[in-house]
Amino acid sequence: MNPLKHMAIIMDGNGRWGLKHKNSRNSGHKEGLKTVEMVIKFCIKKHIKFLTLYAFSTENWKRPIKERNYLFNLLELFLKEKLEKLNNEKIKIKILGEKNFSKKLNNLLDFAEIKTRKNTKLQINLALNYGSKKEIAYAFKKLNKKKKISENDISNSLFTKNIPDPEILIRTGNTQRLSNFLLWQIAYTEIFFEKKLWPDFKIEDLNRIVKKFSNIKRNFGKI
Ligand code: IPE
Ligand code: IPE
Ligand code: MG
Repeated sequence: MNPLKHMAIIMDGNGRWGLKHKNSRNSGHKEGLKTVEMVIKFCIKKHIKFLTLYAFSTENWKRPIKERNYLFNLLELFLKEKLEKLNNEKIKIKILGEKNFSKKLNNLLDFAEIKTRKNTKLQINLALNYGSKKEIAYAFKKLNKKKKISENDISNSLFTKNIPDPEILIRTGNTQRLSNFLLWQIAYTEIFFEKKLWPDFKIEDLNRIVKKFSNIKRNFGKI
């Protein structure tokens, strides 16, 4: 059995789901929140300590303002509604990415991080305005005075400092690319590309993936 501490997910396919079922991309974003709640419960049950969710990329700013605002409002509502519950369940929230949203949302994100910072049951990393290349560029900037740079120096200069690399990366939505997500951190991650759109992704899919993962021979270069 392979240990599983950290699961990372590219939650893709909301827009297509929404268009297909309700003729609106945004309705898919709303529906996708149900899958988020299911995954959180799953991680708690399976004692997975870190869950990283790709919620908004640095490239997603290229979307129409209406969709962006809908996503930010959804996030705000979700946090306002659920923060107390998440905190009671001893969940720690951490934002990966630069907080450059409205003042209101930035403050709410700060508040969520501060309020939950001592929790140890599960850490949810929300990748928001996150881009792996930007993250690595920041790390270079931080390290630019150092003469010798080790792999650990780089890891410790990323947003994911102190977070172990994910053992599993899942991307839903029937697309096989990384879209600028955790490029450094997934050097040895097992990757699962799923056909289902994010709102259709269910607990049996997670169970299947985790079961398959536990039987993989992880070589890390050895034989
Ligand atoms: C992923 O779903 C969620 C975000 C990027 C916020 P999409 O909105 O990319 O859904 P598709 O890929 O267009 O269906
Ligand atoms: C990746 O999905 C970003 C998130 C899930 C937040 P996208 O839908 O933005 O990715 P591309 O643009 O199709 O690669
Ligand atoms: Mg997409």
